[in-house]
Amino acid sequence: MGAIHIERESENRRLLLSFVKSIQERDLVTYEHSRRVATYAYRLARQLGWSRREASNLALAALVHDLGKTWIANNILNKSAALSAEERRTIERHPVIGATILIGCDVDPFYVETVLHHHEAWDGGGYPAGLQGEDIPLGARILAVADVYAAARERLLLGSTTKFDPTVVQAFLMLLDSHPNFTLGSLSMKLARRPPHLAGI
Ligand SMILES: [Fe+2]
Repeated sequence: MGAIHIERESENRRLLLSFVKSIQERDLVTYEHSRRVATYAYRLARQLGWSRREASNLALAALVHDLGKTWIANNILNKSAALSAEERRTIERHPVIGATILIGCDVDPFYVETVLHHHEAWDGGGYPAGLQGEDIPLGARILAVADVYAAARERLLLGSTTKFDPTVVQAFLMLLDSHPNFTLGSLSMKLARRPPHLAGI
């Protein structure tokens, strides 16, 4: 790796971290969410064989993945009621807005494409480009999984004041963190042998 490359990388890093700060100032919920996504994306990338450097670049992309949301009006962004089709279209512009900001700052294309494609779906049903399968950059595919997992955890925590027993939610999250591979073990085999009409009883 040449000196120019290292210099460009640290320049990218400085710039992206300044965007992270602007997200933190503008929208704390998105900032906290992005930090969790970055942690999961880093771990997941390592699990998939990425080097530490590659994985931390992905974590940095994760920290700014929703940068485009800082340009969307608060009344739409924070709306708790169902969104109209028009409002949904506005929110769905955030990957393009984020990527456009990054292109304007001349950051490495890796960050631009990861941000641009983080809402694509494996079956082609995502946005903004409707890319499918391996046409979606791998970083964006990793980020998409980390994003949904973080959002599901946040939904559980949010519901722990209204929908769910807070103690049960806490216990479940601790279980996920301490025994990420927990299974039913031999019990699942016994259940699997039950006749189908008894399933769920
Ligand atoms: Fe997003």
